[in-house]
Amino acid sequence: MALLEVQDLSIHFGNVQAVQEVSFTVDEGIIYSVIGPNGAGKTTLFNLVTGIYQPTSGAIRLQGQPIQGRKPEELARLGMARTFQNLQVWMNMTAIENVMVGAHLRLERNIFKAIFRTPGLRRNDEKLKAEAADWMSYVGLGDYVGARADSMPYGALKRLEIARALAMRPRILFLDEPAAGLNPKETQDVDALVRKIAASGITTVLVEHDMKMVMNLSDRILVLDYGKRLAEGTGPEIRQDPKVIAAYLGRKS
Ligand SMILES: Nc1ncnc2c1ncn2[C@@H]1O[C@H](COP(=O)(O)OP(=O)(O)O)[C@@H](O)[C@H]1O
Ligand SMILES: [Mg+2]
Repeated sequence: MALLEVQDLSIHFGNVQAVQEVSFTVDEGIIYSVIGPNGAGKTTLFNLVTGIYQPTSGAIRLQGQPIQGRKPEELARLGMARTFQNLQVWMNMTAIENVMVGAHLRLERNIFKAIFRTPGLRRNDEKLKAEAADWMSYVGLGDYVGARADSMPYGALKRLEIARALAMRPRILFLDEPAAGLNPKETQDVDALVRKIAASGITTVLVEHDMKMVMNLSDRILVLDYGKRLAEGTGPEIRQDPKVIAAYLGRKS
């Protein structure tokens, strides 16, 4: 059984059919990428699968269990974690506190309680702090353990979000453009980090525009265009697909 099954998933915003009857499955342990032009529905698909949006129709199953209609916090407890295309880092917190929120979320259903630390959780703080520091080192942010989030460069904040997601100990991790806005060296580092995460056994779903990175990392690729599934397959299959070349790979976007 696939870890994640998405079946005929649709959502519309007024007249905009952002995602239209999209189906795909993600097997456990793989790196699965979602590509397509800007506005194709990639982020919306992530928002649907991670419970931020409710689908107009369709089904989502995690390990065979229907999960559509569940809240993001519940899905986090079922093993889903994500990062955001537009950074969602709490700038008024330190870097490590941001990662600790991820660890708290694993234990606490309510995100606000996670942020404002209930007394019961405070006892665990030293342990969580050490764990959060470990995750920061894991993503290459060992030098920023004592830093304020608002003092960190953009590239480091992108990694901080990954550390926070990892602190939730996900089975499946959704990364929405982790290399967007990064320079070539930083992009290579994220490429290596994604590979390391996947090698640790975390199933990884990636949205990314950097085709070198996508082709390098992905076991399978889903191509969206205007909210629809245009193609699905391995990197070599996708690269040779005339529909994909015409809609996406043939032009710079
Ligand atoms: N909350 C929303 N309200 C209205 N329209 C939205 C909303 N979210 C996404 N859309 C629209 O859905 C389409 C797909 O957007 P998006 O998923 O962000 O694309 P991608 O991530 O592939 O660039 C776009 O036309 C976008 O404007
Ligand atoms: Mg997007």
